[in-house]
Amino acid sequence: MQNFTMNNGLQIPAIGYGVFLMTSKEVLEHLPQALDAGYTHIDTANAYLNEVAVGQVVRASGMAREDLFVTSKLFPQSYPYEQCAKDIDATLERLGMDYVDLLLFHQPYGEYVAGWKAMEEAVKAGKVRSIGLSNFPMHKIQEILDVAEIKPAVLQVEINPYWNQHELKRQLEDVGIVFEGWYPLGHGDRTLLEEPVFTRLAGKYGKANAQIIMRWHLQEGNVIFPKTLNPQHMKDNLDIFDFSLTDAEMDEINSLPQHPYYRIPGEPPAFALAHHDYSQQA
Ligand SMILES: NC(=O)c1ccc[n+]([C@@H]2O[C@H](COP(=O)([O-])OP(=O)(O)OC[C@H]3O[C@@H](n4cnc5c(N)ncnc54)[C@H](OP(=O)(O)O)[C@@H]3O)[C@@H](O)[C@H]2O)c1
Repeated sequence: MQNFTMNNGLQIPAIGYGVFLMTSKEVLEHLPQALDAGYTHIDTANAYLNEVAVGQVVRASGMAREDLFVTSKLFPQSYPYEQCAKDIDATLERLGMDYVDLLLFHQPYGEYVAGWKAMEEAVKAGKVRSIGLSNFPMHKIQEILDVAEIKPAVLQVEINPYWNQHELKRQLEDVGIVFEGWYPLGHGDRTLLEEPVFTRLAGKYGKANAQIIMRWHLQEGNVIFPKTLNPQHMKDNLDIFDFSLTDAEMDEINSLPQHPYYRIPGEPPAFALAHHDYSQQA
């Protein structure tokens, strides 16, 4: 597995297993298959309502905690300073872990500036190794940077070949933030997966179209965690380290028309989750 180095010097595995829209039952069934296939990085969130199941699978796996990289995310009702400290503890309790490797603010609303201080204190207390943001636009990232003692190590946003985020990457170049791409395969969108350029390169390299897209992400420096319930796809998605796309092929993929592409059909709107009690997980 290839790692990227974050701006705090810590390593993050380039590929993980995302559990968005997976019920706890599905996590209990499929996450063990992913760990068996070789995944060491798990991406969950308070709002996915499956942290308890993620913790159960990790403990049952017998894997050493330090061999895993676990990310979770807080929703905006957790951002007020005092609430944030409490909800970080509650997240660890649900996961049954002493620390998470990465904790993100999931959505760019509410008291994220006040909450960032609680995130920094959690790092100092050893409860969280790295902190970052998700779905934050540049001007809100700047508000955090203006007060941050610990800069965001990661930004998780939509990234795929139709929306490569080169402009935001350029703006954040000096921060050394690692980009994570959600919907790395367009949430399974056939139009993306069947783009002629991917079919041609798949033929050239003896790979599947999805693997060409994943290789593009890797060479772009994006951390990704495609979700799949299919054990063969789980294996395929780790099998992208034995070939490279040329600069000309990367340029060709980056010349696809660009615009924010995917809404998030399953992501509950912030207001719907604003009063959700995340402790109620099966
Ligand atoms: N921060 C945020 O706001 C946010 C938002 C959305 C998602 N996320 C994160 O991003 C992760 C990924 O998002 P996602 O799962 O919805 O989208 P995705 O990974 O882009 O796409 C998943 C789809 O791709 C298919 N797929 C996976 N591997 C494949 C392969 N090798 N060949 C062909 N098809 C393949 C899957 O079908 P099969 O099951 O048939 O393989 C599934 O339909 C989430 O789990 C979550 O961790 C974060």
